Amino acid sequence: MNIIVTGGAGFIGSNFIFHMLKEHPDYRIVCLDALTYAGNLSTLEPVMSNPNFRFVKLDICDREGVYKLFEEEHPDMVVNFAAESHVDRSIENPEVFLNTNIIGTATLMDACRKYGIKRYHQVSTDEVYGDLPLDRPDLFFTEETPIHTSSPYSSSKAGADLLVLAYHRTYGLPVTISRCSNNYGPYHFPEKLIPLMIINCLHDKPLPVYGEGLNVRDWLYVEDHCRAIDLIIHNGRVGEVYNVGGHNEMKNIDIVKLICKALDKPESLITHVTDRKGHDMRYAIDPTKIHNELGWLPETKFADGIKKTIQWYLDNEDWWQPIISGEYQNYYEEMYGNR
Ligand code: NAD
Ligand code: TYD
Repeated sequence: MNIIVTGGAGFIGSNFIFHMLKEHPDYRIVCLDALTYAGNLSTLEPVMSNPNFRFVKLDICDREGVYKLFEEEHPDMVVNFAAESHVDRSIENPEVFLNTNIIGTATLMDACRKYGIKRYHQVSTDEVYGDLPLDRPDLFFTEETPIHTSSPYSSSKAGADLLVLAYHRTYGLPVTISRCSNNYGPYHFPEKLIPLMIINCLHDKPLPVYGEGLNVRDWLYVEDHCRAIDLIIHNGRVGEVYNVGGHNEMKNIDIVKLICKALDKPESLITHVTDRKGHDMRYAIDPTKIHNELGWLPETKFADGIKKTIQWYLDNEDWWQPIISGEYQNYYEEMYGNR
């Protein structure tokens, strides 16, 4: 099996590559990544010399480059993680989200149509369903929940999902889609809540909680997400959407307090800042379908996963220090300076 994994120098894609090379040592994995600010080649260093692994620096919107790679590799599957992934950046500058997340997805699928493919898998998000109210804990996102997006990010991901399903219906492309809740774990870029709070704590810097911090996210350890995708690409039904989540809902403020406690830092570092525009209140996945059809269940409890994650950031300063000392400084100043 030869699999092109796009966005494999990012958070979830890199964890997926490690998972696949370990679980399927006979597979060839080709990572296609443009190395944007979110892509980090040093993450893939441990697998660079693996003869079953190849890294190619390429933009998924580069049609000529993508077609050339398909001609060279004749992939059996494509798993598309490549995306602009941060909601706050999408609020500041939507355009690059439309290009990468929508045009890039179409370009990859055009290559799949042209050269043939056994499976095209789109890594999507629960954010395409919009949000749920805090006072209705009985409600969850199922695969039938209508698409109802809030941010340019989620809208671009929803647009891609619709295109993927249209390519299936119109051209018969063998597709699957997974819609996962918030992930956490190693190699998470420190613009996102959990790594940002860990690293700020370590520097005794203010912990910027948007609004009251009462928004709820449904957290899943990244390895559990990777196992779910592995199952879907092998056993999932073509043309189907699978929600992925582990019923682990937590308020932002409780996560931040937990990180303070784990690192023995005072909660007085918590600073409430201006809320995110259009901020989704609650995400909560109903994972019944993937459980019943594919036998998937999360394996890592949040209490263990967050401990492992914090320890990983303590042990891997070499990974995140170069990130936060570069362009990230300007990002941080722009996003949080006057908030
Ligand atoms: P990330 O931002 O950490 O990584 C994205 C990767 O894609 C980077 O390596 C980047 O260089 C690459 N990339 C960006 N634009 C590209 C382009 N035009 N061509 C080629 N490569 C490009 O993102 P992540 O958190 O790992 O998310 C991966 C996927 O999972 C995304 O599609 C995201 O929508 C989805 N997702 C993420 C979460 C989460 O909690 N992080 C949850 C559900 C779904
Ligand atoms: P984030 O990690 O950006 O993921 P998403 O918006 O895709 O769910 O944010 C998770 C939650 O944390 C979200 O409700 C916004 C909030 N948040 C903060 O309160 N402060 C921050 O500095 C960040 C980055 C996020």
